[in-house]
Amino acid sequence: MLWRRLRSQRAIGVNFDLQISRRGFLIAATGVASASLFNTRSLLASEVDERELRATHGRASLAGPEGPGTSIWGYDGTVPGPTLRLQQGRPARITVENGLGEDTTVHWHGIRLPNAMDGVPGLTQPPIKPGESFVYEFTPPDAGTFWYHPHADSLVQMGRGLAGALIVEETEPLAADRDVLWVLQDWRLSGDKQIAAGFGSAMDAAMSGRVGNLVTINGTVPADLGVRAGERLRLRLANASLARMMALRFEGHRPVVLAIDGQPCDPHEPDDGRLVLAPAMRIDIVLDMQGDPGSRHAVIDDFYDGLAYTLTNLAYDKALSLRSHPLDAPLALPRNPLPEPALANAVRQEVVLQGGMMGGGKLAGVGMMGMPGMSGGAAWAINGMSMTGDGHAGMAPQFTLERGATCHLTIRNETAWWHPMHVHGFSLSVLSRNGAPVPHRQWQDTVLLAPKDVIECAFVADNPGDWMLHCHVADHQMAGLMTVFRVT
Ligand code: C2O
Ligand code: CU
Ligand code: CU
Repeated sequence: MLWRRLRSQRAIGVNFDLQISRRGFLIAATGVASASLFNTRSLLASEVDERELRATHGRASLAGPEGPGTSIWGYDGTVPGPTLRLQQGRPARITVENGLGEDTTVHWHGIRLPNAMDGVPGLTQPPIKPGESFVYEFTPPDAGTFWYHPHADSLVQMGRGLAGALIVEETEPLAADRDVLWVLQDWRLSGDKQIAAGFGSAMDAAMSGRVGNLVTINGTVPADLGVRAGERLRLRLANASLARMMALRFEGHRPVVLAIDGQPCDPHEPDDGRLVLAPAMRIDIVLDMQGDPGSRHAVIDDFYDGLAYTLTNLAYDKALSLRSHPLDAPLALPRNPLPEPALANAVRQEVVLQGGMMGGGKLAGVGMMGMPGMSGGAAWAINGMSMTGDGHAGMAPQFTLERGATCHLTIRNETAWWHPMHVHGFSLSVLSRNGAPVPHRQWQDTVLLAPKDVIECAFVADNPGDWMLHCHVADHQMAGLMTVFRVT
């Protein structure tokens, strides 16, 4: 009920801040005139959730326990990295040590945090040099499923395995028998089961990106998922792949979508029962185990025409059902404290995605930005401009918003390719797709555009700084599908 109190305070426009008492309860302190969700305040040590992560080399059994291990780069040497579970409204301090042989940073994907904690090298912080550390401090305002990954040499560092889940827990958890997380990663392995060389090839860059040949769940080729008839699973899906789009179907089951990109939506069954999960997207679902004891049901990814495969199977225990009727508990998650866009007074901006390979093997022109797909060159552009790489100092903002303004953003995909477009620092209320209203009150930080799609969305520019907006197919980002906007 504390959370409800907090929300109603927001509704009547009272400035508020979140803090944690020493006993660890969430309390709302009102009347702090200048406080906002994004200020880092000085806190008692006991109030802060202290964590450490080390980006380093390791080995993983991607293809299963037998066979040669694969050399990877991972947080704490594992793939995926440790799952960070933080509490909504409780300050966190995460010390990241760089045990790699090159610069890195960590980006807390989807978390609304102070710009200086966003992890973009050159733009929001100096890169972390080998052997050095950086302390990230933020208070997650939103509960949900998020993730973290490097924002330096992104294609190689993520492609070698650096990624982990970040779960911000609700104050009152959803009623479910189990909370299960699937971090999905796609790997391009060579014959000796090592990560294939050739990152950043011109073909990957100008086409669909580095799609691999092995998909793992939580770092290994999945065995069947053992389930019990009648149980209710909360399943958190996170696509941490470089480029692979996924569309998951749970045969014989009817998943209900609870949240997208960490943000609760109206619970709904997806169209055709298919969960479309582009790189960087997360979907939380509820899965009621309605199959018969002892039965087995495939989980199929059929995103790419003609390339469907069975990701894993739900394997029912022989025991009788846990309950005779599905659990009768509410599915809606409490909404996060997102500012509601004021569309009537919105500032309109448009972002046009251009470039890539067209029919007949020709590149669409992206202006005079160098040879397409060559290292450091551009194959893509946004509004005629190609920003390449991972982020760097001196990136001129594409547009500037005044703090507090509502931005009504149109994203227009003029290319022949799919692009999961990601915005740092904000969550977007998705209004329409190709002119049709988007139902279920969906907020996303990563919006997937099919070829020629036009998306309209809106957000309140309440968080000052220079923020990235880019395609999360890593090759596309590196090759020019990236821009920056400023909130003053
Ligand atoms: Cu998850 Cu700039 O990205
Ligand atoms: Cu991000
Ligand atoms: Cu793209």
